[in-house]
Amino acid sequence: MAKVIIFTGAGVSAESGISTFRDSGGLWEKYRIEDICMAGCLQTNREKTIEFYDKRRADIEHKKPNHAHRQIKAICDKYPNDIKLITQNVDDMFEKAGCVDLLHLHGFLREVVCPSCGFIADIGYTKLASYQEHCPKCHELLRPNIVFFGEPAPKYSDMHDFLTGCELLVIIGTSGNVIDIRMLCEYADRTILNNLEPSDAIDDTNIDKVLYQKASVAIDEIVQDIELFLN
Ligand code: OAD
Repeated sequence: MAKVIIFTGAGVSAESGISTFRDSGGLWEKYRIEDICMAGCLQTNREKTIEFYDKRRADIEHKKPNHAHRQIKAICDKYPNDIKLITQNVDDMFEKAGCVDLLHLHGFLREVVCPSCGFIADIGYTKLASYQEHCPKCHELLRPNIVFFGEPAPKYSDMHDFLTGCELLVIIGTSGNVIDIRMLCEYADRTILNNLEPSDAIDDTNIDKVLYQKASVAIDEIVQDIELFLN
């Protein structure tokens, strides 16, 4: 069981040039969640929903991991049995940094999935239609492998399993609007939070260390803290 959980959100990829969701200028200012990220959108608004995720996929093709992704990859490699990386992010910055064993809670942009038989394909950065619209196994319409609001999030139970053994929880770059940070912190003996600024959805008074600065800056101190904790 990993003693340290690193839990990340969109903020860790902000310095790679990937939009967050709720910061000023974030994706949910430009798009309405109910149009393209709610259960049912693929039935009522398939074209625009698919187009949105096609654009997101194309957008990350040339984006590169930043110092925070690379440092997290390095510390995970150093302590493979003691650290588990869990992310809400659907981008592939950790994969591009070389991480192989991370939990994507909300899906993965590069993948499409068949809602009927569960077939999954990594289509890279292409449009869904350029791959194929129908499942090669059962011919159902494929969809982005992303968890929409109001849909089950099957990886949440894995998250709770990993958190059960957690002693140090490091949270980086999430506003806490989707996953309740207080609930996460209840699992851990010690907690560290790094965001650019305070979030209305996070009560930081019970968090042991709070770093309001860029992840690329905070990460060196965080890595030192993890090392100290594990040694
Ligand atoms: P949000 O956009 O809600 O929050 C981003 C957080 O990152 C904010 O708290 C910022 O302060 C922080 N931040 C921004 N730039 C940063 C930087 N350079 N360094 C450190 N922190 C920075 O993103 P999430 O909390 O990840 O779901 O959003 C959760 C989920 O909501 C996403 O997984 C997504 C979205 O709807 C799906 O796509 C299904």
